Order: sequence, then C-alpha cells, then structure tokens
Amino acid sequence: MRTRHSLQDQTVVIIGGSSGLGLASAQAAIHAGARVIIGSSSTDKLQQAVHSLGQQASGHPVDVLDAASIQAFFAAIPALDHLLITAAVIRPGLLLEADITALQTNLDSRFWGSVHSIRAATPRLAASGSITLTSGMVTQRPQPGKALAAVAAGAVETLAHSLVAELAPRRINVISPGPMHTPLLSGALGNDATRLQALAHTLPLKRLGEASEFAEAALFLMANPGMNGEVLHLNGGAAWA
Ligand SMILES: NC(=O)c1ccc[n+]([C@@H]2O[C@H](COP(=O)([O-])OP(=O)(O)OC[C@H]3O[C@@H](n4cnc5c(N)ncnc54)[C@H](OP(=O)(O)O)[C@@H]3O)[C@@H](O)[C@H]2O)c1
Repeated sequence: MRTRHSLQDQTVVIIGGSSGLGLASAQAAIHAGARVIIGSSSTDKLQQAVHSLGQQASGHPVDVLDAASIQAFFAAIPALDHLLITAAVIRPGLLLEADITALQTNLDSRFWGSVHSIRAATPRLAASGSITLTSGMVTQRPQPGKALAAVAAGAVETLAHSLVAELAPRRINVISPGPMHTPLLSGALGNDATRLQALAHTLPLKRLGEASEFAEAALFLMANPGMNGEVLHLNGGAAWA
C-alpha cells in the first residue's frame, strides 16, 4: 500500500511565504516537521516572516516578475522536496481602458513567474516531490476588470494539467482559493472590517476562508502521492452559490 509522504525533514520552498496563504502554509509545513525556505520581494517582510517562523525557516528575496531573480533564488537552493507558489501581482483594470503593461503584469507574475520557477526548481526537485501553484475563483466567477487576472489564473491551471507528463514522477497541482481572510483581501477592501463582513455575508458559509484552511490543502497536495494534475477548489462552495 502506498502511504502518504511525510513532510518530516523535507525541504519545502514557498514563493510568497512572507504573508497570507504562503505564510500559513510555511507555519503548517514546519509544524509537520519540514524545513521551509520562503521567498518574497520585500526584504523587510521576508525577515519578519523568517523571524516569526523560527529556526526551521530561512528566506531569500525573489521577484516573480524577474526571471533572473527567480534563477538566482533557486541557485541558492541545492535541493528541495516541494515547491508552493502563492506570489502573484494582481492588476485589475477594464480591458479597453487599462494600461496594457499593467494588464500584462497579471500574466507576467502568476503565469510567467510560475513557468520560470518551475524551470529553475525542477532540476533540484526530488523525484517524489511536488509543485503546487495558486489560481483563484475568479476563473469561475469573472467580473469586470478582472479578465486578465482570470486568464492568468486559468493559465496556471492549464499549465499544471499540461506538465503532468513532462514532470512525472514529480507531481504538479493547483489550489484555487475563493475569498480568504489575508492581508491581500483586507487591503483590497481598504482594511475596512464592515466591507469584509459584508463580503463574508454573501458567501454560503457566511465567512471568509482562513489561511490555515489553504495551508491544510497545500500540505495535502504535497503529501498525497496520488494527487497530480488536480485543481483543488477551496471556496466554501462560493463558486456554486
Ligand atoms: N486572499 C484571497 O482572497 C485570494 C483569493 C483568490 C486567490 N488568491 C491568490 O492567493 C495568492 C496568495 O494571496 P494572499 O492572500 O496570501 O496574498 P498576500 O497576503 O498579499 O501574500 C502575497 C505574497 O506574495 C509575495 N509577493 C507579492 N509580489 C511578489 C513578487 N513580485 N515577487 C515575489 N513575491 C511576491 C508577498 O510578499 P512581498 O510583498 O514581500 O513580495 C507575499 O509573501 C495570490 O496569488 C492571490 O492572487 C488569494
């Protein structure tokens, strides 16, 4: 019988690990016995997160908008067991009105950032290892101004399906979160508790998702040897309500 991989003494790399869903996943991975290397673009946030995570964590700066920075990030990591990418830069804007460079940033960060990261990480990734990318419920519930964010999220889902054969026996999956209570969502709603509560009230479970729930999903995809090419929807049913 094939059993769940343990994360004990495994190396888990999390790009976007200094905040929100990535930081919660780093905490959970350490709790499961892993060593964690986090990456993000702000050195201050990175240092603060590494400090809060404790001795099993280290961090290096990386900018998912810069291929050379991604290569330098992985050059400092000789071997890894699991890669989780939560970092992305979202630039909403109406297709006919927004600055085209801003719109392209959605794809440059989430899609091309994932592509560059996968290319740099895979030669160092254990054969039993995994890659987890992040998309979003926007693919199922597009809104005005979110078309390119949705396309970028959809692109990483297709990327994961499409790479299964090339990366095997390494595995690749995606988590598609709905609205989660993180600094990203709070910031997007002006750090206004009333707006956050109003959004929560529109959801079937009458609450936002918690970063710890994302972390559990991420660890499940890392540890379950049968999960491959999957998009795990984590939205409390909001996509269907
Ligand atoms: N929260 C939600 O409701 C929700 C819903 C659907 C999808 N998502 C997706 O889930 C992912 C994580 O979101 P979150 O809520 O955890 O956001 P968050 O709290 O803002 O965390 C984002 C992380 O990405 C890093 N990051 C941002 N730009 C970067 C760059 N250019 N290069 C490298 N790292 C960068 C940030 O650190 P630095 O600032 O230091 O770079 C931070 O560690 C995102 O892809 C988001 O689109 C979130």
